[in-house]
Amino acid sequence: MSIYEDFKEYEAGHDGECSITRLELDEETSAFEEKKVGLYDIDLVYTMMHQHALQCFCLFLDKNPWVKEENSSTSVCLDVGSSTSFVYMMASFVNFLAIDASRVCHHKDHHKFYVDGTQLMFHEGEAQQLPIPNGKMAWVSSLHAIEHFGLGRYRDTIDPLGDIKGIREIHRVLCDGGTFVGAVPILPRGMDKVVFNRSRYYSVDTIKSMLRDAGFDIWHERCLIAPSTLDDGTSTRFPTIATPATYEELFGSGTGVRPDAVYLWVATAQTQETQETEE
Ligand SMILES: C[S@@+](CC[C@H](N)C(=O)[O-])C[C@H]1O[C@@H](n2cnc3c(N)ncnc32)[C@H](O)[C@@H]1O
Repeated sequence: MSIYEDFKEYEAGHDGECSITRLELDEETSAFEEKKVGLYDIDLVYTMMHQHALQCFCLFLDKNPWVKEENSSTSVCLDVGSSTSFVYMMASFVNFLAIDASRVCHHKDHHKFYVDGTQLMFHEGEAQQLPIPNGKMAWVSSLHAIEHFGLGRYRDTIDPLGDIKGIREIHRVLCDGGTFVGAVPILPRGMDKVVFNRSRYYSVDTIKSMLRDAGFDIWHERCLIAPSTLDDGTSTRFPTIATPATYEELFGSGTGVRPDAVYLWVATAQTQETQETEE
């Protein structure tokens, strides 16, 4: 049934008993032409990712209570490529800075603004060139965003090395020992690809080696996997939080099933001196 037929049906029953008497049809909203079916796939992966990151943030705050005492002009917690809902939640605990390439303030001369009555500040900017001094941040999160850096889809500068540069920038702005929580979409080993300008899809091996090359030490990792049905059609797998090894076992070569999934990590930024001492 089209929206017009739905509207007629609704209109026929619309009378003085309804809560609101004024009724109109939005003729221009073609998106509503089709009734949408929502799958519990990528949406659920995002929710799992946000919850996991939030848990990591609470642990981080327990270990670093001084972060809560920083004043509003010196936020030491940053999210790069941000959803408003996630950073708004994070700002319940501390002053939080969110940098994004595609969000602009209504007032076009303002490249940054505080959300009144909160501890949240938005700043327009590109991950490949963060407007932050070296070693300033104690926490950086970047969830489902690195895969887009440099593809131009979100108004940022086209740069095939955008993801590598973005990760290096995050390392540059973190203090020695600072925490980096990130997540990118994944495919099984050997299936990495760039779908321009939608996204890059990494294997866990690829993203891990990019992080290591930038100076990160990964100490927690999980694959967050959307509900999917395996090839035999018999077993339905509900949202899974798995190790990378289990992810490969389930969805690596042979199975043909490629559910939406992300690799989420918690890593520590090490300076070159720390790395050399440890080696
Ligand atoms: C798929 S959304 C993910 C949003 C959010 N992190 C979340 O967890 O829901 C990707 C975000 O990354 C931002 N983005 C893309 N390229 C960027 C870049 N080069 N620098 C900063 N932000 C970027 C986009 O504007 C968009 O808000």
